[in-house]
Amino acid sequence: MKAFVFEHPGIENLKKTLEVPVYGEGLRVRILKTALNPLDFNVIAGNVVYGLNPMPHIAGSEAIGELLEDGNALKKGQKVIIYNRIYDSTCPMCIQGKEYLCLNGGIWGVMTNGAFTEEVRIWEKNLVPIPEYITDIQAVSLPIAALTPFHALMRANARAGEKLLVYGASGNTGILGMQFGRIMGLDVYAVSNSQKTETYGPVKVFPRNGIPDDFTADIVINPLGSETWGDSIKHTSISGRMVTYGVLTGREGVTNIPDLYTREKTIIGSTGGALAELHKILEIMKYHQIKIGVDRIFPFDELPEALAYFRDGRNGRVIIDHEL
Ligand SMILES: NC(=O)c1ccc[n+]([C@@H]2O[C@H](COP(=O)([O-])OP(=O)(O)OC[C@H]3O[C@@H](n4cnc5c(N)ncnc54)[C@H](OP(=O)(O)O)[C@@H]3O)[C@@H](O)[C@H]2O)c1
Ligand SMILES: [Zn+2]
Repeated sequence: MKAFVFEHPGIENLKKTLEVPVYGEGLRVRILKTALNPLDFNVIAGNVVYGLNPMPHIAGSEAIGELLEDGNALKKGQKVIIYNRIYDSTCPMCIQGKEYLCLNGGIWGVMTNGAFTEEVRIWEKNLVPIPEYITDIQAVSLPIAALTPFHALMRANARAGEKLLVYGASGNTGILGMQFGRIMGLDVYAVSNSQKTETYGPVKVFPRNGIPDDFTADIVINPLGSETWGDSIKHTSISGRMVTYGVLTGREGVTNIPDLYTREKTIIGSTGGALAELHKILEIMKYHQIKIGVDRIFPFDELPEALAYFRDGRNGRVIIDHEL
């Protein structure tokens, strides 16, 4: 089986290897498409804090595939989304439906090999059937790009009529955060330098350095880390919530503590999302169109070129088609 394997950090060290045995446990799944995220890039570049396992490693954490054998409920030929959290179903977090916080778990593609290959084995409990009303491009954007901002909005207890401000709006998670905000009845604002951001629905776009000084929102989604940390708390309303799930520009941030307590602002950490939330997103998509802006689709053999393209700036999703 063909896979992209690396032993040392760096895209340049990715090796297309032809004789890799199918790894993992559970059902055999042929990978159809993967989508690139900062996570994959950071895993390959050696920038993640979690230990990679195994080494040499195969990255890739956002994928869809097709079952190559029958499971209990799912049958051979079924197209599936891979819910990319390894979880034991028994720890206190899993029992609360928080598989993404499993005490004995982690991210598929990080603590295990992932999707940059032709075929994997994975437990049936990680497989979500793709309904016929969802395209493959939409489906491959659900386990990370959609689930993460959806969960962030749930964590912030978003309520219709509230104002939402999304930082990094033209990014993978940003475009979906804005759209879920609209669907939930929020008044959506975005921080973005991309012309394309306005095409994701009725949204008022501020350029990166152009948020009016006195503007505040009830909910602020900001996964950008250091560069915008203080700014995003400033633009959180009295009694508002700022949610973070990333550190794109750095891990440290300066907080104006009196501003935080005198206005009763809340800073919320969020990560990934629950399997039940992934199912909720599919329900929502029965009734609401979700737009995925695709910048470019690469054939599987060009994964290293795709990662370099992803790193050097893009406007929309970079997808790997494993059938090309
Ligand atoms: N914890 C989790 O479960 C989880 C899940 C997904 C992502 N994340 C993290 O969340 C962050 C965002 O992820 P993403 O996939 O949405 O990222 P992305 O696709 O790379 O988008 C980031 C966006 O941020 C904006 N930006 C602002 N300052 C930037 C800078 N200095 N360099 C590059 N971009 C900058 C750009 O939008 P504009 O041009 O529109 O300003 C860019 O499109 C990443 O750190 C990622 O690792 C965490
Ligand atoms: Zn668990």
